[in-house]
This record gives sequence, C-alpha cells and structure tokens, in this order.
Amino acid sequence: EAAEKSGYEHFMLKEIHEQPKVVRDTINSVLKDGNINFESLTDEEMQNIQQVYIIACGSAYHVGMAAQYVLEKLTSLSVRVELASEFRYREMQLAKNSLAIIISQSGETADSLAALRLCKEKGVKTLGIVNVVGSSIAREADNVFYTLAGPEISVATTKAYSCQLVAAYLLAMQFAKARGEITEERFAELIAEINTIPEKIEKILEDKERLQWFASKVVNIKDAFFIGRGIDYAIGMEGSLKLKEISYVHSEAYAAGELKHGPISLIEDGTVVFSVVTQSALYEKTISNMVEVKSRGAKLFGLTTYGNYNMEDVADFTVYIPKIDNLFAGSLAVIPLQLLSYYVSVGKGFDVDKPRNLAKSVTVE
Ligand code: G6P
Repeated sequence: EAAEKSGYEHFMLKEIHEQPKVVRDTINSVLKDGNINFESLTDEEMQNIQQVYIIACGSAYHVGMAAQYVLEKLTSLSVRVELASEFRYREMQLAKNSLAIIISQSGETADSLAALRLCKEKGVKTLGIVNVVGSSIAREADNVFYTLAGPEISVATTKAYSCQLVAAYLLAMQFAKARGEITEERFAELIAEINTIPEKIEKILEDKERLQWFASKVVNIKDAFFIGRGIDYAIGMEGSLKLKEISYVHSEAYAAGELKHGPISLIEDGTVVFSVVTQSALYEKTISNMVEVKSRGAKLFGLTTYGNYNMEDVADFTVYIPKIDNLFAGSLAVIPLQLLSYYVSVGKGFDVDKPRNLAKSVTVE
C-alpha cells in the first residue's frame, strides 16, 4: 500500500496532488485544435435541448450546483440540479427536449442509477459524466463523458470532483457554441482560460504549508460555517462536506444571503466562518455578510483571488487563488478547502482515507 501512495502519507493527499495532471487529461480528452469534440452528443442535439436536469449525489451533486451557474451564464438552457435520492421519488414533470446529466465517479451509486433509469423510462435523453469505465451508469446512459481521474481510493473525493467540474465547463462551452450563444472570441478566451486551470492548481498546491498552519489553529473547532454566493456557494458546499466527512466537524454551507434567516443566531465569539469570495459581481455583497458575522465575534477565513487585498481588512486569515475567469474560479477555490479538511483530519489523528461510517460508493438506497 505504501508503494501505491507514491510517498504520500495518505491516498487523499496523493490524489489532491494528482489533480493538475488528471484535470489536464480530462480537458485534453475532448479538446482538439481549439475545438471541443464530443463523440456522443452532436451539435444538432445540443441545439434542440431546452431543459437540462443535473442529477447526482454527494460531491457530484455539488459539481452539479457549480455547473448550473456556468450553464446558465453561457447558454439559454433552463437548468435544474437534483439530488438523485429525491428526484427518483418525486412526481416531476420532465420537459420535452430535455437532457438528464448524471454525474457519478463510481457509476454505481444506487440512487443515481435509479434516477438514470427513470429518465430513460420517461423518454429523456441521458448523459453520464462518469469516472469508472464500464460501470453501470456508463453502460446504461445514452451518452458518456468519461472523466480521466484514474482510480480514486480515498473515500473523500478530490480529483474525481475536479475532473467532473472541468467536464461540466467543457460541456457548457460546447452547448453555447453549438447553439450560437457565444462569440468566437469569447469561446477562444474560455479555451485559453480552461487550459490554465492545471498550472494554477499546481501553484496553489505549492503553498500548502500555509493551509497546514491554519488547519493547526482550527483543529479543535466544533462548528463551522461556509458562506458564498453563486459559484462560491457551490464551492462552500463542497468545502463544508469535506470538512465534516473526514474531520467530523459539524459544518454547514449557507448561501451568504441566507445567513440572516437563521444561522446568524448561531454565531458567537470564535465561531469559524469560511468565506469563499471569488465572484467579482458578488464580492461586495459577501464581504458585507462577513462584516456582519465578524461584529458578532466570528473568526473569519477569507478565500479570494489575488488582487482583492482588502479582504485582509475583514478576514483573520486570507488565502489567495490565482486570477482566472470567474466561471472557472471554483476549480481553484476548492483546492485550499480540500487541503484544509485534510490537514484538520490529520491533525486530529483520524483515518483520513477511510472515515467512519462512510463508503466510497453507496450502492444501497
Ligand atoms: C459517496 C462518496 C462521495 C461521493 C458520493 C457520490 O458518498 O463518499 O465522495 O461524492 O458517494 O458517489 P459517485 O460515485 O456517484 O460520484
């Protein structure tokens, strides 16, 4: 097993470090000469689709949440994101001309598979974003976009999540192009930007000791909140899940604007609030939410883009990610949050790769 970890203490840390490579591989699998080539979904099919349902569980659902914002920003598609375990028991009217995108690392999650089958029964076209080749979802979906994360051993997903995220961006970009909803210049600009993700992840990883230091300061916290708006909210959901699943810290992610509708009553001296603030249009709004919780005693962790240095006026600890198009910022923002939960778990002496009560693939309902 030590050999399989290639010198890393845990699979999770190894897989975190594999992200630049596997994200690059996933991008390269469909990107040729500045164009995105999907073998399965044709441009004509993309033109005829009006409604997209993204259906998944766990972290894959969080990918769907982020993908929703990107698809909505780039295309005229109407998008809904659904938890597979809820979707399958609802009496939802599925629109004609719709596409169901099932996101799953294992391709075996029972609820996601059942949701896929339900969509097919109802005549909805399906696309799986799947990591495991030949898995049930990959076999049964009408179309498959394989992420090239390779085998993921750690129960808490990192590299598969990151690959799913770029797969969703590429899909959104191609939808926009096929439907004539993006200019050539903007498309070329996004291609150039998406290609910078791997090296920027690499850069964040180089600075991991800072996160390790911060993790040592929060290792004993009992509760945490993650706040953000838009894509940052989706990333906060993933950061929060990571922290709770491997560090056993009670953690909740909130859309920053919802703080006032309940959770703010839980903020007291020293409550840690992780704020993800990468979306420029929403920057000031989230900063003002940070100020609100700070005045009630919260200890603030601010995650933002280089250049937003006034973050340090409000946050107690700031982490910067490289500049990138707002649409893709989630791919960078999630990395420090993965590292943070990893180091908190290590600091507490937990079994990082095999957290209690959790399974890598949930094949029971
Ligand atoms: C489990 C794993 C998560 C994963 C979820 C969905 O809960 O621990 O990491 O996100 O299942 O799994 P899937 O294989 O469908 O992506």
